[in-house]
Amino acid sequence: MSKCRFRFLIAVLILMLSSAMPGQAASDNLALTPPMGWNSWNKFSCDVSEGLIKSIADAIATNGMKAAGYQYVIIDDCWQVGRDAAGNILADPVRFPSGIKALADYVHAKGLKFGIYSCAGTNTCAGRPGGLFHEVQDARNYAAWGVDYLKYDWCNHADEPAEQAYSRMRDALRQSGRPIVFSICEWGQSQPWLWGANVGNLWRTTSDIQDCWDCRRDWGGMGFTHILDLQAGLESFAGPGHWNDPDMLEVGNSGLTDTECKAHFSLWCVLAAPLITGNDVRFMRPEIQSILTNRELIAMDQDPAGRQGVRVSKAGNTEVWAKLLVDGTRAVVLFNRGDVPAEITVTWADLGYRGRQHVVRDLWAGSNLGKFKKQFTDRVAPHDVCVIKVMP
Ligand code: GLA
Repeated sequence: MSKCRFRFLIAVLILMLSSAMPGQAASDNLALTPPMGWNSWNKFSCDVSEGLIKSIADAIATNGMKAAGYQYVIIDDCWQVGRDAAGNILADPVRFPSGIKALADYVHAKGLKFGIYSCAGTNTCAGRPGGLFHEVQDARNYAAWGVDYLKYDWCNHADEPAEQAYSRMRDALRQSGRPIVFSICEWGQSQPWLWGANVGNLWRTTSDIQDCWDCRRDWGGMGFTHILDLQAGLESFAGPGHWNDPDMLEVGNSGLTDTECKAHFSLWCVLAAPLITGNDVRFMRPEIQSILTNRELIAMDQDPAGRQGVRVSKAGNTEVWAKLLVDGTRAVVLFNRGDVPAEITVTWADLGYRGRQHVVRDLWAGSNLGKFKKQFTDRVAPHDVCVIKVMP
């Protein structure tokens, strides 16, 4: 072999190894775009049952959500009550009388995927049995039941680094032989964006989202605007197969106005955040349904390049977020946090464009606004957004 060819092969090998690095999560080739689905916690907390999960799956399959890309139906905490003599995790026999496998089969028959929750500690955050020291056995059971997604929490954990605990579960999931999306839920405490790509497919970056604009709970829960602030600067860690997770959506619950829901959804889309809905999707008002199923917004979130949006400017209560899409287009969110209408401008220079004139499309209106020179300005209502695409 010639020296050049040898060098070329070594270079290709290095490239292959380095591009394989982020794919070292529990399951390769999963979550190549941010996962989309529904999770029980934000709306139903511990009040989960097989009847609820089945009716949610029925709704997602028929109300336009499945067609818009929502896939995973995830039971959060409180499905589990104990372990049998052999250590196998047991579902609540009253709330899940048919067992978890039958429920997963039901969800699969709807053309959807099935997710479940456990915890890296002895007990979950709601005090149910956790996965610590049962990782291999639990992963094997989840695989046998047909689980496609595992959210793994961090309450009551052992005295060990999070990366070590989550890597143990990653290895157990790998050994199970079933591709299972692995959602790390350690609330951003040990900067999981620094190690998460080798362990899971997504990692929570903050404490729990609350159903409010900017509230704060003394235990750390917070409204979506505070969570948004904590995402700035994390963009370089996200990409296909490994995502920052700013937590599940509160769109459609009772604490946000429709305008605020639209802003929350738009900002999660520009962040390339997992779109895990957390409302009662069986009984949505049309306004909420149209937010959650907006094709152009979802396409921005699901863009195959997988780049997380960046905050390109901020002045007082106004800010601009931009996301570079696979075709070179920029998706832009003009966000007004204030209580009075505000003029917000994005310049083409902010977006890294050299050209003078670009076509602008309004994504919520679904229509092109025309060509604009150097910049675009919109008057944005309080707590509202304007979401545009700026074409190269
Ligand atoms: C933690 C998680 C939440 C939810 C609850 C369940 O608080 O961060 O998302 O899963 O536990 O107990």
